[in-house]
Amino acid sequence: MKTSGNTIFITGGTSGIGRGIAEAFHKLGNQVIISGRRKALLDEVTKANPGMRSVELDIQDPQQIKAVAAQLVKDFPTLNVLFNNAGIMPFDDAAGAIDDDTAVATVTTNLLGPVRMTSALLPHLKTQQDAVVIHNSSVLAFVPLASTAVYSATKAAIHSYALSQRFMLAGSGVRVVEISPPWVDTDLIYKSGDSRAMPLPDFVAATMQGLAAGKDEVYVDAIQALRDNPGSGEHGFVNAFNQSLKDNPIPVGH
Ligand SMILES: NC(=O)c1ccc[n+]([C@@H]2O[C@H](COP(=O)([O-])OP(=O)(O)OC[C@H]3O[C@@H](n4cnc5c(N)ncnc54)[C@H](OP(=O)(O)O)[C@@H]3O)[C@@H](O)[C@H]2O)c1
Repeated sequence: MKTSGNTIFITGGTSGIGRGIAEAFHKLGNQVIISGRRKALLDEVTKANPGMRSVELDIQDPQQIKAVAAQLVKDFPTLNVLFNNAGIMPFDDAAGAIDDDTAVATVTTNLLGPVRMTSALLPHLKTQQDAVVIHNSSVLAFVPLASTAVYSATKAAIHSYALSQRFMLAGSGVRVVEISPPWVDTDLIYKSGDSRAMPLPDFVAATMQGLAAGKDEVYVDAIQALRDNPGSGEHGFVNAFNQSLKDNPIPVGH
């Protein structure tokens, strides 16, 4: 995709990957509009990046999605890029009872949010040059982390949705791009500085390169083996992956 001259709407731009990508696009001369629930952070990010705009949006609320989409099209008629990035990653226990509120929030945020946001903006995007929908899935779309079973399932679902949407939009002028981050050191779980987590600036730089190169799927080389799953050896692969993280757990904060 072109990396300058776009008008880009980003969900979940208050922190982590969303903020990092928002600031990278902003520096390259794009009109960036970020969204999220935390108004103070929206204000902080736009203040630090003069010209960037923001809008409050809880991606779990379908009425807010419709209202924000209508306002965006009115205020930013050149809007041509949607980056579905907002997400939550609660740990759960698929061997026991999963808290229903948490499961619903995870599916509503990570799966229905992007589906609804994309649905609301696609009629407009189809009228634009160089239109792109970017979905943020995860390496866990390809290999589930068993201790975040519902989260991993939502990311596999978004990968599947992106594949279908890319097929359905072929020839429409709207491109569908999926980014599948590795473990990146953000507040999603707990910013720990763990050496296995990719530092955010490195991830943002690699992702901007992948987007500029025009790839349909953008992921770092380090996850190639995980991306190549599933195959006939999927179960052994998934079990070994999860056993390694069970033996060497991810820090979850205090
Ligand atoms: N970090 C990783 O290791 C990693 C790996 C693979 C994929 N990802 C994906 O990357 C995306 C961003 O995660 P991150 O690592 O940057 O974590 P983060 O720093 O916690 O950012 C999450 C963002 O999502 C927004 N968000 C959460 N719930 C929302 C809601 N109901 N409505 C609107 N916005 C909401 C948050 O904004 P507010 O709280 O202000 O609403 C925040 O801006 C997620 O989709 C995540 O699954 C991350």
